[in-house]
Amino acid sequence: MNYNKKTVKDIDVKGKKVLLRCDFNVPQDKATGAITDDKRIRAALPTIQYLLDQGAAVIACSHLGKPAATFDSYVKKQAEKGKDPASITREEWEKSLKKLSLAPVAQRLSELLGKDVVMAADVVGPDAQAKAAALQPGQILLLENTRFEKGETKNDPELAKAMASLAEIYVSDAFGAVHRAHASTAGVAAYLPAVSGFLIEKELEIMGGALANPKRPLVAILGGSKVSSKIGVINNLLDIADTIIIGGGMAYTFAKAQGGSVGKSLLESDWLDYCNEMIAKAKDKGVKLLLPEDTLCAREFSADAEPVLCDTMAIPDDMMGMDIGPKTIEAYSQAVKGAGTVIWNGPMGVFEFPAFAEGTRAVAKALADTDAITIIGGGDSAAAVAQLGYADKMTHISTGGGASLEFLEGKELPGVACLLDK
Ligand code: 3PG
Repeated sequence: MNYNKKTVKDIDVKGKKVLLRCDFNVPQDKATGAITDDKRIRAALPTIQYLLDQGAAVIACSHLGKPAATFDSYVKKQAEKGKDPASITREEWEKSLKKLSLAPVAQRLSELLGKDVVMAADVVGPDAQAKAAALQPGQILLLENTRFEKGETKNDPELAKAMASLAEIYVSDAFGAVHRAHASTAGVAAYLPAVSGFLIEKELEIMGGALANPKRPLVAILGGSKVSSKIGVINNLLDIADTIIIGGGMAYTFAKAQGGSVGKSLLESDWLDYCNEMIAKAKDKGVKLLLPEDTLCAREFSADAEPVLCDTMAIPDDMMGMDIGPKTIEAYSQAVKGAGTVIWNGPMGVFEFPAFAEGTRAVAKALADTDAITIIGGGDSAAAVAQLGYADKMTHISTGGGASLEFLEGKELPGVACLLDK
């Protein structure tokens, strides 16, 4: 995949209307709707500010959550959750949409920019059209949630055309959504000159650079609960990395595949053969594959459970693995120490429980202490690094969850592929 894409600096935006796709899919408090983490809004500020300073009129857009764009699809979703379809009302659906309005984002964005953000009541309807037409250079408009349009997730060309007709240039800075082939993330690029913003530029430069031409040794640390969600990543990184470190819940499927007893630990029986294939591939390619030697276990999945140290290959029947043990921490920290580049995706254990957070904390500290290029890809590891206070010690923390994973899998990302090559 070509990571060398034109950016806002390669195009004249002065006096132009620019449709800017951001990823404002921010977490919100369920009860109040208040934004609980505005990192994604902050991450878009450099591009927004640049465009405004250059005299562009910015028409920003984003999705938020997964709204049902039609009443029928809402009824279907609720019925799947066990609700009686006959009891579902239009008011209820409209209320569910209101909860996913981008209005709180407009307010936060306005506070961060220190200027008015005009909010449109729709995406391509009369209000958006009128407000986009009236927008002046240096002003910013935010369209309503793109997923309120049923054509968005279907990448409907009519919707893409209608969005394109609001502007003269398309800029994407929505790294977190580049793995989606939707009307606002990819389709619209067919109708306007399309370039990246600074956030996507940085993600492509650092993550793309680490995959295409890494400073070696390249060490990839892969954690998280499921092997099944990391298949593509492990497979792709085995072609690129010098060392692959496995931690988190998925380590137990590897241990079992190698003949270990893993007790009540997370186990994906369907993936045992795959783990053995990956172990064989690593041998074949000369890639060091490190698996946890020792494991901190518990009798139940609880924050108060008493931690018991076990050999990863001999976890008693009544116990489950919850974190990597001290010998493993030492081995993994040493591997990080000697690295040129480290890519980390997925926690080493149940870091939400303090008694089982040490593995993830120690790996985060090893990354913070090394001179290597350190890249954190993926939502959970990014959250862990932030929670543990090491965020500013990392070279790069990707703003993408699913998008970073697909990036590390080496997949073509529709939201990147649609941008103009340099
Ligand atoms: C994310 O939060 O990972 C992105 O905003 C994409 O959201 P989605 O999974 O709802 O497409």
